[in-house]
Amino acid sequence: MTEPEIAARHADLCARIAAHDHAYYVLNRPTIDDREYDALVRELRELEALDPGLVTPDSPTQRVGAPLPGEGRFAKVTRAVPMLSLENSYNPADLGKFERSVRVLLRSTDAAGDLYQGTLAYVLEPKIDGISLECVYEAGRLKLAATRGDGVTGEDVTVNVREVAAVPRVLAEPLDLTVRGELFMRFADFEALNRRRREEGLEPLVNPRNAVGGAIHQLELHKRAQKAARQLSLFDPEASGEPEKNPIAELNLSAFFYEIVGDAVRPTQRENLSFLEGLGFQVPPGVEVVDSLEGVLEVVGRWETARAGVDFPMDGLVVKVDDTALWKLIGRSAKSPRWAIAFKFAAERAVTRLASVDAQVGRSGVVTPVANVEPVFLAGTTVSRASLHNWANVREKALRLGDWVLVEKAGEIIPQIVGVDDVRERGDRPVAPPETCPSCGGRLVKEALKKAPARSRQASASDDADGPPPDGAAQGSMAFLFCPNEEACPAQIAERIIHFVSRQALDIDQLGEKVVARLVAAGHLRAPGDLYRLREEHLAGLEGFAEKSVSQLLSAIERSKKAPLPRFIFALGITGVGAVNARLLAAHFGGLEGLVAFAGADRPTREARAREIPGLGDALSQELAAYFDRTWAVRQLEDLAGLGFELAGPVAGDRPLLGKVFCITGRLSRPRSELVSRIQERGGVTRVSPSKKCDFFVRGEDAAADKVATFEKLKNEGKSAIRELSEEELERVLRGETT
Ligand code: IVH
Repeated sequence: MTEPEIAARHADLCARIAAHDHAYYVLNRPTIDDREYDALVRELRELEALDPGLVTPDSPTQRVGAPLPGEGRFAKVTRAVPMLSLENSYNPADLGKFERSVRVLLRSTDAAGDLYQGTLAYVLEPKIDGISLECVYEAGRLKLAATRGDGVTGEDVTVNVREVAAVPRVLAEPLDLTVRGELFMRFADFEALNRRRREEGLEPLVNPRNAVGGAIHQLELHKRAQKAARQLSLFDPEASGEPEKNPIAELNLSAFFYEIVGDAVRPTQRENLSFLEGLGFQVPPGVEVVDSLEGVLEVVGRWETARAGVDFPMDGLVVKVDDTALWKLIGRSAKSPRWAIAFKFAAERAVTRLASVDAQVGRSGVVTPVANVEPVFLAGTTVSRASLHNWANVREKALRLGDWVLVEKAGEIIPQIVGVDDVRERGDRPVAPPETCPSCGGRLVKEALKKAPARSRQASASDDADGPPPDGAAQGSMAFLFCPNEEACPAQIAERIIHFVSRQALDIDQLGEKVVARLVAAGHLRAPGDLYRLREEHLAGLEGFAEKSVSQLLSAIERSKKAPLPRFIFALGITGVGAVNARLLAAHFGGLEGLVAFAGADRPTREARAREIPGLGDALSQELAAYFDRTWAVRQLEDLAGLGFELAGPVAGDRPLLGKVFCITGRLSRPRSELVSRIQERGGVTRVSPSKKCDFFVRGEDAAADKVATFEKLKNEGKSAIRELSEEELERVLRGETT
């Protein structure tokens, strides 16, 4: 590969991985299985080894987990000891490599002589597939519970976690202690939740992990829990009637803890676990200790069949060096400890019959196939729908209705059809792509998407239903089917409104997908602005809508007018503008008026203005300018602008680095991910390479030569305001001591 090809492939991989991270960590809706994800990261690492200049703070190889969603409603918690992730392994060879690397690392550590005497014990624990959680106890009382977030900064979800019976509020001893573990849902509780959701006319949730993520982030549950608590108090003037059932308790969330942070760590991991158990925590069941690689492989082998018998989501095992004194010596990488590794189980598969194929219309008009299969039990849940990705895939597999198909669920991913069992009798009716839109009946058009569209896939991961399939390799110049009736196709309208009210957008969670679809079908909703014109009579007759929920919904809609501006901009669903870019636009436009003026300007003016937006790349500037060629999109925005929104713009005082663009390269004394998030928290943006638009260039150790050269050139030409900051100066800028 030539240098530009390497750089292009690197950028492409970064965008893809970022999109998958976003889908996994933020939307709780994975779009790729772990193996494929790891292959992407491996390729990225290989490219970075070829050209170390590509290692940037933004590179997924430098980050732990994904960035936090735009405007979280829970307070942020910054921790001194980051929550790390684990390297994955998939086969005995990977585990062998891990075991060897542990021995090599120990041997190369002088101080290890005393501690490491040839044999090493390993602990094997189930790897629980839930949401990781850190709990801080003071004098034995739960003081803080926080999610993982990006590893360093998480969200304070204490109010919700206090309602989870499986997380002790008081410990058996009055200790100051920080512990970590996994919040999860047992399969039976998950099935019960989905049964209740179906009864209420709500979409069933995809997997237990998703359910836990949703529950723990719900503000509504949190408020109801608070109200329930108030109603228990006789002295509360607002108290009335029966106490409401506690909505979090109802979910029956479970939790296993496996990690102690700081000084309280015991000499061995098994002692850590029994110490935790003694304090009242539940620890993962079935833990085993072995003293060789053979032992590890034997336990792994046993679990490969035993996994089917557990009643909680488990996607593998975690192998840890038992002796905790060795952990420091063995060390860690930027993202994960080197003394532990995850072993991921192969995807579970089942065979079932293909009953029918639906054509699903996404928010930007792409029509994708979704299979309905005869219900089959797979990895803890009953599967009746499976993804087929795209029509080329259907053609390649020559699918016929009645075929016996292989359905695979890789950990948490939405099940997908991976093949046809052609030993059995084949079905008789070939599946053909539709010619007309299943929603509006209009003629569909074919359009070739050369590669992931220029829109940042990170930004619009919720657009995934529309976007190219996650298995990028197969994309090539595949033709996608589109419904061109953007303005009037009911499915596209419904999908846009569903996006508008989604959690990361205006967060009107009382409005489920089915209700939106019904309101669109009834002609009450044609654009997001119609939400604010809904009246009781439009909702009253709707199935599953009690009087109380009607008024709750109407007030939630009204409340959404006070959302933060970045969320509103995200909600518009502009191509390429996800949560991250929405923040840039909000910082630039400052309010709704600025955006409306931009949208209403002619194309050349829009192009010129878009180029002025700090931090927005060229491709996205172009795309943003082009987006408002759609007169309906301009009208839709103007309509919203006339409805009296009072969007909370960014407060300049809170965001002292608003509009400032930083480029950091090379190694610094703190992880770059930390510096990047501190810059972003203060309203600044970071860029991979220096450019005319950059304000600051920070050069670490072994900084990439080409970046330094570009910086020198920019500085010498005098066309850019870019200036160099030392790490100490950057610190001072971050602390607001200087600008
Ligand atoms: S140990 C530094 N043990 O898996 C130690 N993690 O993919 C890191 N997880 O971030 C964690 N079960 O959220 C550990 N028995 C277990 C686990 C476990 C689930 C999660 C955890 C971690 C992620 C890494």
